[in-house]
Amino acid sequence: MNDRVEPDLTAPGFLAHPHPVLEELRVVDPVQYNEQLRSWLVLSGPEVEEGLRSPHLSADAVPAFMSRLPDGERRSLRRLEDFFRAWMVFSDPPDQQRVRRAFAGSFTARAVQAYIPDMRQRADRLVAALGEAEGRTVDLVTEFARPYAADVTCLALGIADDARAAVQDQAGRLLAFIATPEPRADLGVTALAALDAIGGHVADRLARDRTDDLLVAGAAEGRLSELEVVAAFAQLLTGGVDPLTHAVAAALHQLPQAGFPEEVRRQRLWVEESLRMSCPFRFVPRVAREDLKLGSRLVPAGDRVLLLLTAANRDPATYVEPHAFDGSRSNADRHLTFGRGGHYCLGAPITREALRTAVQAACDAGWTRAVLAGPVTRRSSDLGTEALESLPVRLPRRRGPSEQNGHGRLLDGEP
Ligand code: HEM
Repeated sequence: MNDRVEPDLTAPGFLAHPHPVLEELRVVDPVQYNEQLRSWLVLSGPEVEEGLRSPHLSADAVPAFMSRLPDGERRSLRRLEDFFRAWMVFSDPPDQQRVRRAFAGSFTARAVQAYIPDMRQRADRLVAALGEAEGRTVDLVTEFARPYAADVTCLALGIADDARAAVQDQAGRLLAFIATPEPRADLGVTALAALDAIGGHVADRLARDRTDDLLVAGAAEGRLSELEVVAAFAQLLTGGVDPLTHAVAAALHQLPQAGFPEEVRRQRLWVEESLRMSCPFRFVPRVAREDLKLGSRLVPAGDRVLLLLTAANRDPATYVEPHAFDGSRSNADRHLTFGRGGHYCLGAPITREALRTAVQAACDAGWTRAVLAGPVTRRSSDLGTEALESLPVRLPRRRGPSEQNGHGRLLDGEP
């Protein structure tokens, strides 16, 4: 008889700090069925990677998610279900590849180089605004990471300054609905309204028909329907702002303890390590197309599978002292923060550059000497996403360039 007490995977304490529990679960079995979430949990590096590449797992996980709603509620949210099913990340080839190809050219490492000067300018502008705040406590999530992530994502998506706040607000409502393990009809109603607003933004841009607009170009390139363009746009937006905010905030949280190397090659490793630890999307959902073996377990067709990227990133079989930040960890770039295989994150190159640029701007402003000025809070509402909600610090007085590399007192806690 199994008399093990199952942890509550919806408890706020777990959701804010999941790693100790995920580690215990992994030790019991890296692939296991969880009754509470009615899903398989995959918790170790090799099995998560196998799952990400497996042709037997479908990304079309939205119907399985929506089927948890009572029939009437599901029917009333049908339009939302069709919309999410058109997202690249929730669809399978060939449609997913057609849509992906239509936008891929705008997000290559090469294309991203063009944004670097603008990114740096936006980071410097935010840093300068905080320079005025000398002596007061500032929140690096709301006053730096979020506006920076929003600026970078909107820049890449061609969203005009005056439309930014509204479009991002709508994107947040869509993500709030889809990032929970169980659907909530009330969040669905808000998400439907957000879908209409975002649809209006896209329709305006398509009607203007400017060839330098990535939406217009993508629609033509992939012969996309308007629903597919709206879905791609919403996904690029939600896929961008929220995780980038967390990735930037987590890196800044780490900075006073870990410093930032001067050599570009080592900077890249540092950024990878920061991404390994912060892992903004904790899992990606899949559905078994047919019976399949994952690790030593047989997953029956139709079952839902959560591939826990964040657990894989802390697998002690891959990483020595997995919960410690090591900016020169040689295998840091093996992390699964951006997934793997056919759905590998389209935004990975821009995220890497945005992160490196933000951290460099912060270093140049002497933020390695920032001091924690209050409790760091984390979102504890859903398992899907990791997010620092506040990072209150007191920033140092600006110094001359020769003084800028000293490290400050520790910002304690996990990034
Ligand atoms: C720290 C920041 C980011 C993280 C952690 C992240 C993570 C991920 C992950 C894990 C996937 C794969 C999902 C799966 O396999 O089901 C993914 C896919 C995707 N990401 Fe990101 N992402 C980030 C930033 C961005 C940005 C900035 C953009 C665009 C501006 C973006 C656009 C996409 C798109 C379009 C896909 C779907 C690709 C496909 O299904 O073919 N991401 N992302």
